[in-house]
Amino acid sequence: MIGIFDSGIGGLTVVRELLQRAPEASFVYLGDTARTPYGNKSPETVIRYALEDAEFLISKGATSIVIACNSASAVASEELKKKYPNIPVFEVITPAAQDALVVTKGRIGVIGTRATINSKAYEHNLKPETRNPKPEIFARSCPLFVPLVEEGWLERSETKRIVRYYLSSLKQQNIDTLILGCTHYPLLRPLVQRFIGNKVKIIDSASSVVSRILQTEGLIKSGDQLYYLTDVSKHSEEVAQKWLGHSIVFKQALLS
Ligand code: DGL
Repeated sequence: MIGIFDSGIGGLTVVRELLQRAPEASFVYLGDTARTPYGNKSPETVIRYALEDAEFLISKGATSIVIACNSASAVASEELKKKYPNIPVFEVITPAAQDALVVTKGRIGVIGTRATINSKAYEHNLKPETRNPKPEIFARSCPLFVPLVEEGWLERSETKRIVRYYLSSLKQQNIDTLILGCTHYPLLRPLVQRFIGNKVKIIDSASSVVSRILQTEGLIKSGDQLYYLTDVSKHSEEVAQKWLGHSIVFKQALLS
């Protein structure tokens, strides 16, 4: 069983992608809604939360871990791999960076939370030793995107203005590729694509990580699909239903 976690419900974009490509896949999802967002917290706090999230998933039967959160991937993946050397741990940043390097002509924009952008994890992965010339990277944190997505404000005029505010500088830099470096952002993809233009290739970290999971032999098994939140609310259930296209029941998770 695959264990998937995010700071909240953003990681459901990874679940959505997984269900589209492997509808029977067995997984247990944890959204840490009681402590969301992670993107504006210190690396030390995010590492502590990520370790607790993984421990919970393993206690529920997970035999692999997917960090469906760029903020936690950026700062906590090494600690998780160290703590669980015998199980596969997937993070979202390396796959998205690899996919971007395949399509780019050399000018890559990256958007994400403050934690992700400040960590420079994408810059690190987008400039491998072996690649010359190195691509130019233009990174921008977009801290208001997560609350807008959580509110379901996907096409509001306010959201369009905020998209313009955050992405204008990237547009002026003539980027040819844009990485959605936050698992909430695929929900804003239509708006982002319209603003940035159809010529810019969009890389979605949720889709990139699911491709790597599916390439790993023996990981997908059919079976239970379980959903846990650390704070269960009607709002989370409504948003999740809208995103996934079907209703789900969240169970209350108690982390130790
Ligand atoms: N979904 C998380 C990510 O990919 C961001 C949400 C948060 O700030 O907690 O970074």
